[in-house]
Amino acid sequence: MRIRNIVGVDEMLKGNSYFIDTLDNGSVDWQAVFNNNNPIHLEIGMGKGQFLKTLAERNTDINYVGMDKSKELLWKSCKLLDDTKLLNIKITNQRAENLELIFPSSGVERIYLNFSDPWPKDRHYKRRLTHNGFLQRYKNVLVSKGEIHFKTDGLALFEFSLEEVKQMKGIELKEVNFDLHKEEPIDNVMTEYEEKFVNMGKAIYKFIAVVE
Ligand SMILES: C[S@@+](CC[C@H](N)C(=O)[O-])C[C@H]1O[C@@H](n2cnc3c(N)ncnc32)[C@H](O)[C@@H]1O
Repeated sequence: MRIRNIVGVDEMLKGNSYFIDTLDNGSVDWQAVFNNNNPIHLEIGMGKGQFLKTLAERNTDINYVGMDKSKELLWKSCKLLDDTKLLNIKITNQRAENLELIFPSSGVERIYLNFSDPWPKDRHYKRRLTHNGFLQRYKNVLVSKGEIHFKTDGLALFEFSLEEVKQMKGIELKEVNFDLHKEEPIDNVMTEYEEKFVNMGKAIYKFIAVVE
């Protein structure tokens, strides 16, 4: 996704109540942030925020945290959230590589990976967010029986990701779907990328994996 620089985005983000600067602050007391100990669901690579906003509106007893490495996209998410009065969603400027910094003890119940960058070149395979190095990080922050929900339009990335999960001890595949939209999926919330690909007639692949 190519995004134009936004002048003053750092200051604008810092002034927004939905944004938490974890590059400055590192570890976060999420219970204090949300003022409750409801379950935490995390989206890594949230993009413009449509998916997480919809979930937060539907499930007010779940706390949603969105992460993205792009400040410009985080700002777009802030603007989307500014029209709401949601108390159960926060977004932060962190990379998946630093997940354990902001969740130092396991406490995440669910991780969403939606249309993660495919990194198709062989030499970049370790950058894929379902590479076993990332799966290990997810295991470190997820509670027992916590789940990873992964959606993509890329068959090669999907097959790579299934293999990575199968080879990893302590994670089991619970559901695998090679055509999520073949029948109207119950409770599926579409992301911006998903809408685009579904409108193009592409198949959407999804798995759910559970940690021990
Ligand atoms: C292809 S977009 C998908 C956006 C959104 N999830 C959707 O489905 O519409 C991938 C997103 O992941 C973010 N991203 C890529 N690598 C990341 C990383 N290592 N840590 C955090 N975010 C990352 C990008 O900035 C981008 O917003």
